[in-house]
Amino acid sequence: MTQRVLINATLATCANSDEPYGLIQKGAVAIGDELVEWCGSQDKLPLQFKNYKKQNCDGKLLTPSLIDCHTHIVHAGHRANEFEQRLTGISYQQIAASGGGIVSTVSATRSANVDELVKLSLPRVDALLSEGVAVIEIKSGYGLDTDTELNMLRAARRLASIRPVKIKTSFLGAHAIPIEFKARPDAYIDEICIPALAQAHDENLVDAVDGFCESIAFTSTQIEKVFQKAKNLSLPVKLHAEQLSLCGGAQLAAKFNALSADHLEYLDEAGVRALAKAGTVAVLLPGAFYTLGEKQLPPVSLLRKYKVPIAIASDCNPGSSPMSSLLLTMNMACTIFRLTPEEALLGVTLRAAQALGLKRYGQISEGCVADFALWDCSHPAELSYRIGFNPLIERITC
Ligand code: NIG
Ligand code: FE
Repeated sequence: MTQRVLINATLATCANSDEPYGLIQKGAVAIGDELVEWCGSQDKLPLQFKNYKKQNCDGKLLTPSLIDCHTHIVHAGHRANEFEQRLTGISYQQIAASGGGIVSTVSATRSANVDELVKLSLPRVDALLSEGVAVIEIKSGYGLDTDTELNMLRAARRLASIRPVKIKTSFLGAHAIPIEFKARPDAYIDEICIPALAQAHDENLVDAVDGFCESIAFTSTQIEKVFQKAKNLSLPVKLHAEQLSLCGGAQLAAKFNALSADHLEYLDEAGVRALAKAGTVAVLLPGAFYTLGEKQLPPVSLLRKYKVPIAIASDCNPGSSPMSSLLLTMNMACTIFRLTPEEALLGVTLRAAQALGLKRYGQISEGCVADFALWDCSHPAELSYRIGFNPLIERITC
């Protein structure tokens, strides 16, 4: 990016500050070498930036570009039939037990090649990009065999080469027990999941390792084996934990200093304490809560009490959260989970970056990556408040 200064911005820096949202009225941001060189109140702009090219933001809201830190965006097929079933009162768990759910997306995904997976995923990626998203986490987990797990991750890497987006991949081999291993989950972990992880890591396809710790998926003992392998490979971990019941996933995540523990509706106080101690981010997924018609809310007050950082994400997937909108996620996080609009914005910027182990993203401050979203808004709460409306003017990037 050529050197320039953005002036006259309503700056929501999302950086640690005494001001809510890290807000600076009439703010300026100096950019050079793809990084923020300075940001602050415009009348304090240091002399050395005065001759930089100026871009006037006309008082509009400037935020860091957004980060979707939990998605299953690469997949084939759809599960609209299960949507119909759930509306008649059949639960997500019942559908999984009768051979539907995740394993039905596995069949569709196994029949697609990398080109097809990329083609099918692009419209969902583009929907996020149109809302000022610059970083997307993408999980495998609909292959459950070595070839397809690797193909999903290859598709995820390819997406980063054809769109202006940073992709962080998570290997999610321990997502569900495939039909061919139905009665032998331990054998699946030993014979497929762990070797596939090693192979994916060899091909540089893995940035983190995830798992689904739940009665309809894997026990914490089974996931622990996968995490041990991740540790041997020096890969960070994250975990789908306490979504449908309390299984001890949060404790396991904390034991491995996980980047994040995700879902967490059934998380208890001991689990919250464990996450706080480990510095693990709680990623809340209101789209899944909403889609599955859950009743048990995540323990937001306890997360606040113990100062566990809270991120939010779309969980974009064909089953529990067929949602490709981070703005709608923000609205749902406020309306359903009672997050404040400030927590929602931090949840898709600063905290989402933390959930992905990205230090220089998700905030506008010196030394951070210069990647911003300019909105036709005058107050940052507008981003969470509107429903089904996208006020993005442009993404400003290097
Ligand atoms: O994050 N909870 C587990 N995995 C996904 C759902 C996957 C699916 O139903 O296809 C989730 O909600
Ligand atoms: Fe998920």
